Amino acid sequence: MKKILDLIAGELKPVFAECGYDEAYAKVNLSNRPDLCEYQCNGAMAAAKAYRKKPIDIASDVVEKAAGNPMFAEISAVMPGFINIRLNGEWLAGYLNGMRTQEKLGLEAPEQPETLIVDYGGANVAKPLHVGHLRAAIIGESVKRMGKFLGHHVIGDVHLGDWGLQMGLIIEELRDRKPELPYFDEGFTGEYPQEAPFTIGELEEIYPAASAKSKEDTDEGRAFKERAQTATFKLQSGYKPYYAIWQHIMKVSLADLKKNYDSLNVHFDLWKGESDAQPYIPGLIQELIDKGLAYESQGALVVDIAEETDAKELPPCIIRKSDGAALYATSDLATIVERERDFHPDHYIYVVDKRQELHFTQVFRVAKKAGIVGPERKMDFLGFGTMNGRDGKPYKTREGGVMRLERLISEVNEAAYQKIMENRTVSEEEARETAKIVGLSALKYGDLSNQAAKDYVFDIDRFTSFEGNTGPYILYTIVRIKSILNKDGGQPADGAILPSVTEAERALQLEITKYNEVLNASFDEIAPHKICQYVYDLSNACNRFYHDTRIITEENQAQKESWLSLVRLAKDVLETCIGLLGIDAPDRM
Ligand code: ARG
Repeated sequence: MKKILDLIAGELKPVFAECGYDEAYAKVNLSNRPDLCEYQCNGAMAAAKAYRKKPIDIASDVVEKAAGNPMFAEISAVMPGFINIRLNGEWLAGYLNGMRTQEKLGLEAPEQPETLIVDYGGANVAKPLHVGHLRAAIIGESVKRMGKFLGHHVIGDVHLGDWGLQMGLIIEELRDRKPELPYFDEGFTGEYPQEAPFTIGELEEIYPAASAKSKEDTDEGRAFKERAQTATFKLQSGYKPYYAIWQHIMKVSLADLKKNYDSLNVHFDLWKGESDAQPYIPGLIQELIDKGLAYESQGALVVDIAEETDAKELPPCIIRKSDGAALYATSDLATIVERERDFHPDHYIYVVDKRQELHFTQVFRVAKKAGIVGPERKMDFLGFGTMNGRDGKPYKTREGGVMRLERLISEVNEAAYQKIMENRTVSEEEARETAKIVGLSALKYGDLSNQAAKDYVFDIDRFTSFEGNTGPYILYTIVRIKSILNKDGGQPADGAILPSVTEAERALQLEITKYNEVLNASFDEIAPHKICQYVYDLSNACNRFYHDTRIITEENQAQKESWLSLVRLAKDVLETCIGLLGIDAPDRM
């Protein structure tokens, strides 16, 4: 279905043309004064300059000719030249009935579906997932879901950090602990064991121990770090025994990462990582040299990316260090080479900490300059801010340590459980299960309701509250509607929606119709927070309507069915929208 704003504009265009004005002026917005009208067109103001007329005269011309249109209950010209519009109630009900009966609630399919890569998650293998990775997962998952639902071909890639120094650190720590392992026996010629020489529990302990050791300011610490660097380099050059250890690390760690992402209801289409880009690096570097883009600077190989219009001077992108090692940017560029080959995407979206902005500016510019991607390719960096504690500093455990994701989730679930038990409408057992859903909604909504680039304060009490702009409040609204529908004997509630009779009903109807517009705008602007704002507004409209209207005891059967259909539609819109945020609703709470 077309968006209401476009449908209204579609009616006004021929009228503008008929009156002798360019139809491009027939643009329609939601009214910012809902007390005066529902929609408005400000085109007369813009046209006034072009046609050297008073805006009010243009507006009056248009209104006079549009007055008989059955789509409008009211259309009027208001000083200095606004065109104010109220929809006809029948027409509005018809639109809602269209939404109710169409696939995806009448969402408009994109004219040109695009192939889109969403690069998010970015976990580092063998290091525990911590809250720093939370935002990438939550926001990226939402962007991916939005794109898919809108009808694009979307590929969500976790892009693991799986090729860095942590691998060398683990290898050397393992050597110190278990020197008898065949991987450390240079003369070993047999098959390496299938079984990993560590469990996930051990691995989780090995990495921090090794990392701490390498940071010690002693001869031992420095020597250990050097060994780790050498081991990393050997691994990256394909040294078999270390590659075998690497495979074990990957297998053990990935199983654990998947479990963690699953518990966040975050799912990737691709589990690729930096290691997958390695084969493309030599060719990439050669191409950059051949094209005359890469040059030597202080022993390193760099590509200039500065542009005249830059507000401040941007440093060149380093492609290869003086010791021959490839860098983060090289790996991201090589990944683009691979993605172009595999998917030829129209659009890339990277959901990464905003402190990496310069890195992505460099990568995007080199990719375009070198023709790795065409000039028309859309490349977006969605940089997110930090999740802070109430002290305004990055969120920590009460003891001041780095917060593990698992622990954060269990704390949120506990808080949600307490809130559910306060209501005491479900058994303890059910409350435990429901708390997982509600807790996750608190966590995700608390994050997504902020503009991604902003830092925000993680406030567990506020996020788990059933009141205010929170995930649990949205879920509570949905659950409430489900219970109304159940009270009516669980009938499918598929009677026709009738024109509204009350203000609260009208407001709810209008709110529902914004669905199409909001989903498209949220995706175009890569802004899940707009969906949050919408579900909050819609929830408020639902609760106001529900408060105002005795649905179940209504005697007029057609009226009752209309209301049931209306709240069901509202619920379907809410559930669809939160689904795009990666949030599910329980049946009771
Ligand atoms: N692993 C990186 C980190 O933890 C994030 C990866 C982001 N994605 C990318 N294509 N660089 O900082």
